[in-house]
Amino acid sequence: MTLWAHRMGSGPAPELMAFNESLSFDRVLGPEDCEASGAHVRGLGRAGILTQQEVAALTGALATVRGELERDRFVFVASDEDIHTAIERRVTELTGDIGAKLHTGRSRNDQVATALRLWTKHRVHELATALAGLQDVLATRAEEVGELALPGYTHLQRAQPVPLAHQLLAHAWALARDVDRLIDAHRRLDVSPLGAGALAGSTLALDPVATAEDLGFSACFENSLDAVSDRDFVAEVLFCCALIGVHLSRLGEEVVLYSSEEFGYYRLDDAFATGSSMLPQKKNPDIAELARGKAGRLIGHLTGLLATLKGLPLAYNKDLQEDKEPLFDAIAQLGVALPAITGMMATLRFEAEAMTRAADSQLLAAVDLAEWQVARGVPFRSAHGVVGALVRRSLESTTPLVELVRAEPSLGEEAARLLAPGAAAAQRRTRGGAGHEAVGAQLERFRSHLETERARLGALGAASR
Ligand code: ARG
Repeated sequence: MTLWAHRMGSGPAPELMAFNESLSFDRVLGPEDCEASGAHVRGLGRAGILTQQEVAALTGALATVRGELERDRFVFVASDEDIHTAIERRVTELTGDIGAKLHTGRSRNDQVATALRLWTKHRVHELATALAGLQDVLATRAEEVGELALPGYTHLQRAQPVPLAHQLLAHAWALARDVDRLIDAHRRLDVSPLGAGALAGSTLALDPVATAEDLGFSACFENSLDAVSDRDFVAEVLFCCALIGVHLSRLGEEVVLYSSEEFGYYRLDDAFATGSSMLPQKKNPDIAELARGKAGRLIGHLTGLLATLKGLPLAYNKDLQEDKEPLFDAIAQLGVALPAITGMMATLRFEAEAMTRAADSQLLAAVDLAEWQVARGVPFRSAHGVVGALVRRSLESTTPLVELVRAEPSLGEEAARLLAPGAAAAQRRTRGGAGHEAVGAQLERFRSHLETERARLGALGAASR
């Protein structure tokens, strides 16, 4: 029987049930729905609407239901429209008439928003923790590789040599912003909508602030209409997931490129690479490619939800049921992507010879030659011109640049030393730049950032219990 059976002359059409249901995807909210229902029941008890025996019977039944769900023993029936109706039906089976009081002063509108917020709080903490794990691996690899350098690229053309540690940390800082964003999103997410009712609160003496505290929310809604309408938290978390996807895609693209024979900078560990069903020689970077590919899906989930939300009038509309699948899927995808990417990065082999050979190409120190002249009073534009002309002559005449630099009156032997292998990264000094000393200092700052982040994640975990 549906929850609204008495209002209707006939039962629901099977076509309606098939289209209307969300049970096929919202079962994951089971534990959080039981948790929120428990708090609601205690609130009804405090309001004198339920006796202490009734409170005990209902919270006991909710614990039983939770256990059944967790052990996969819960038996669903055809009329269960969603996880919320299924749980209420089962509680009523277990407690009889008392179960009929469970939904007092509550609507599925505040109920679903509450369960979804609780669920999202837990997942945001897990996601941020997984990101911290990848950051940690990137930092460890950065420490390991010492002063090994490779070319840095702009327009995918060799630009200047950069320490590999600098490149790895570039990805790690982007992930640090993702963690920061998740912690920030968590703050706005951590607001209880329970007590908003269908849209207007209740005539009963319920105390939404007390239920919010009971559930460990750090705040309670201010406006019941807003509370049941608001899916900003889903949109925000989906944005976080989409941007994480973009960052992982960029890292993935780098691994795809650098592990190709043409670059040969990275070699994938066999356990984190795939082979080909036909071509026996192949070793494929599937994880890196999926890291790139999943970004499209994550961006789609964000834009899909925003399109759903746009144009909705206030309060609950059934369209809002469409918030769940994108959110659940985004979290699930990152839940499998991050361990795989973390493992891939932890086991990646760095091909020092290929990187060094490319990084030591004399042309990559061209700007250092120009800056050497600037330090001697030459305007940068003129210095740029002098070096540019030498580079052109070097390429046209296939004469090594270093020879032309030595012979150039405005440059000479001292400037030529800037073209020596490893000189560029050793010479660079600016904070945050790709000089060895600066990268060492950056690594220290990153390590201390990770420590702060770990403490913040600990607090987030406690707030998402
Ligand atoms: N399954 C619904 C959802 O996910 C629950 C809320 C239903 N509320 C209602 N008034 N029909 O959004």
